[in-house]
Amino acid sequence: MSKRKNTTSRRGQLQSEMETLAEPYRIKMVERIRLLDRAEREKVLKEAFYSMAYINAEDVFIDLATDSGTGAMSDEQWAGMMRGDEAYIRSRSFFEFEKTIQEVFGYKHVIPTHQGRAAENIIMELLVSPEQIILSNTHFDTTRAHVQNQRAVPVDLIKDVLWKFDEEDPFKGNFDVPRLKAALEKHHERVPFILITVLNNLACSSPVSMKNIREVSALARKYRIPVYFDACRFAENAYFIKTREKGFKDWSIQEIVREMFKYGDGCWMSAKKDAIVNIGGFIALSEKHEELARRCQERLVLYEGFMTYGGLAGRDLEALAVGLREGIDEDYLAHRTQQVAYLARLFEDVGVQVSKPAGGSGVFINVDSLYGHLPPEKLPGVALVCDLYLEGGVRASAIPFHLNTVDPKTGELCNIDFLLARFALPRRVYTKGHLDYVGKVMAEVKKKARKSKGYRLVSAPKVLGHFFVKFEPLK
Ligand SMILES: Cc1ncc(COP(=O)(O)O)c(C=O)c1O
Repeated sequence: MSKRKNTTSRRGQLQSEMETLAEPYRIKMVERIRLLDRAEREKVLKEAFYSMAYINAEDVFIDLATDSGTGAMSDEQWAGMMRGDEAYIRSRSFFEFEKTIQEVFGYKHVIPTHQGRAAENIIMELLVSPEQIILSNTHFDTTRAHVQNQRAVPVDLIKDVLWKFDEEDPFKGNFDVPRLKAALEKHHERVPFILITVLNNLACSSPVSMKNIREVSALARKYRIPVYFDACRFAENAYFIKTREKGFKDWSIQEIVREMFKYGDGCWMSAKKDAIVNIGGFIALSEKHEELARRCQERLVLYEGFMTYGGLAGRDLEALAVGLREGIDEDYLAHRTQQVAYLARLFEDVGVQVSKPAGGSGVFINVDSLYGHLPPEKLPGVALVCDLYLEGGVRASAIPFHLNTVDPKTGELCNIDFLLARFALPRRVYTKGHLDYVGKVMAEVKKKARKSKGYRLVSAPKVLGHFFVKFEPLK
C-alpha cells in the first residue's frame, strides 16, 4: 500500500497548538438538556438507590457514562437512513455495508449483528469450550461474561505500568509480552484464540502499538493459534499509532487500519463506538475462514435474523457504512482525541490524578486522588459518581474490576483487583463549553471529597452485577 503524505494531520496539529478545539463540523440540529436544581438532584439520587444505572437520562445534564451508541450521526448518515433498503433478503444496503467493511478492514466475510455482544455470543459459542483459556490484553466486561458463559477462563495480560497514572507510556493498552509468553508456554493447548482489544477500553482507553500487534501475532503463529480483534475503537487506536508510534506519521488512517488487521484472522465490532451509530455491530473474517463464516451465519439466523441484516434494519446498515468512513477521518479523530486530552487537563488542573497520556474513549482518573481517606469497603468510586451528580448533574462511571491474569515468571493464574473511574465522551455531542462545565463540577467535588463518609452495597446480582447494583450512604 502506498504511503501518502497526509495534509489533514497538520490541520489537527494547528488546532491543538492554538488550543481552539474548534469542532470539524457545525450543528444542524440540537437536543435540549436541563440541569435540575440541587434539591431535585438529591431526590433523584436517593430514588435511584445512589446508582448511576437507575438515573433517568432526562435527569442528567452531561452524560459521560459511556461513549457507546451515544454519538451524533451526521447529515450523510441520516441521508443513508433514508436510502435504507428494507428488503428481508439480500438488500442493497447489506452490499453497501459489506463492501465498506471489506475495504476498511480487508476481511472478506461480513456478518451483521445488532451490537457487539451479539457478535461475542456467536463467536464464543462456536470457538470456545469449557476449561479453555482466552488470552487478551483486556476483555471488555460483556466479552468476559461471554467467555465465562462457555465455562472458559478470560485472562487479561495488561502491563503493570497501567497503575502508574503519571508514567507517560504511549501504549499502555499493549499486551504485556512476558506475561503472554509465560501464559502460552504453560497453557497453549487450552487457548483457542488470542483476542486483541483495540483500543484497550478498560485499560484507561489506551492504544495498542503496531509493534505489539506484530509481536502478539508472531507468538500466536508459533503456537498456531488464531488472532481476533475486538475492533470497537479501531480508528482511535490507528490515530494513536499515527501520532505516537515511530514510522507511521505519513501513513493514512486507512493504511494503518489495513496494516493492523492484516495480523488477525478476523474481528468483531460494536459499531456503536468508532462507526458512530446508535446501534449495530458485525463479525468480519479473513478469506480463509469461509467455513467459520458459514457457521456464524447459521447462528445468526437462529439468534439475530437473516444473514444480510442480522438484527438491524437496512437503514442501520447504511448509517453504519457511512459512519465507518467518517470514523477514520483524520480531522474528526484529531478533534476527538484533543477533547479527551482537554478534559484530562482540566481535571489535572484541580489536582485530580488522571491516566497519562490521555486515551481515546474518555478520561480515566485515580479515585484515590479525591477519596484516598475511604477504604475500598466504603466504596470511594460510588462516592465520586454520586458527588458528581449531586454537584452538577454529571454522570460518570466507576467500576471495580476483578481480573484473572498470569504471573509473568511462572505462567500461573492469579487475580488483580482495581477501581477505575471513567468519563467517556460521546462522539460529536458535547462542545468545549460542556467540558469546561464538567471541569468546574470536578473542582467542586474535589474541594468537598474529604468530607465523604462513603457508601455501602445494598444489592448486586452475580452476572454483570455493576449494571444493577444498589447503594446507601454511610452516616
Ligand atoms: C471493548 C468493547 N467490547 C465489546 C463491547 C460490547 O459492545 P455492545 O455494547 O455493543 O454490546 C463494548 C461496549 O462498550 C466494548 O467497549
